[in-house]
Amino acid sequence: MRDIQNQDDLYLLVDEFYKKLLSDTSISYIFTEVVKIRIEEHLPILVTFWSQAILGTGGYVKNLTQIHLDINAKEPLTPELFTIWLHHFNQTVDENFEGEKAEQIKTQALSLSTIMQVKIMQEKAQKL
Ligand code: HEM
Repeated sequence: MRDIQNQDDLYLLVDEFYKKLLSDTSISYIFTEVVKIRIEEHLPILVTFWSQAILGTGGYVKNLTQIHLDINAKEPLTPELFTIWLHHFNQTVDENFEGEKAEQIKTQALSLSTIMQVKIMQEKAQKL
């Protein structure tokens, strides 16, 4: 198996990842009901994001944590949902790629998911 090398690889990765997310009813409702994503617009944004994070290309300028705080305001993004998200993400990486970048992308996903959950908990605490 080879490592993640370019944007085509990232496209394959996010495409396969979202197939898993959207076919798992324990999380798919967030993407189909809470935020009605348009997959053909969503996937290229994800590629830009991961390309910046992993391949150092730049081009992603939005506040990712705030985007997820906004989703959480509509429907709670629970620790269970983050666990499911990470499970599908790591599995998709492991099924398709192997190497330094593959490890890096899983580490980044875990650290971002931790940051998002901390912000979500902080916001919740402020409202009490
Ligand atoms: C409970 C776990 C998660 C759920 C349910 C979730 C759900 C979503 C949804 C519904 C969107 C679309 C938002 C919109 O278009 O308004 C989105 C965007 C996105 N998510 Fe997540 N997400 C989760 C965790 C993560 C994590 C851990 C990462 C990063 C490692 C991530 C990366 C992204 C990116 C890059 C976008 C695109 C943002 C943009 O449009 O600029 N997500 N997510």
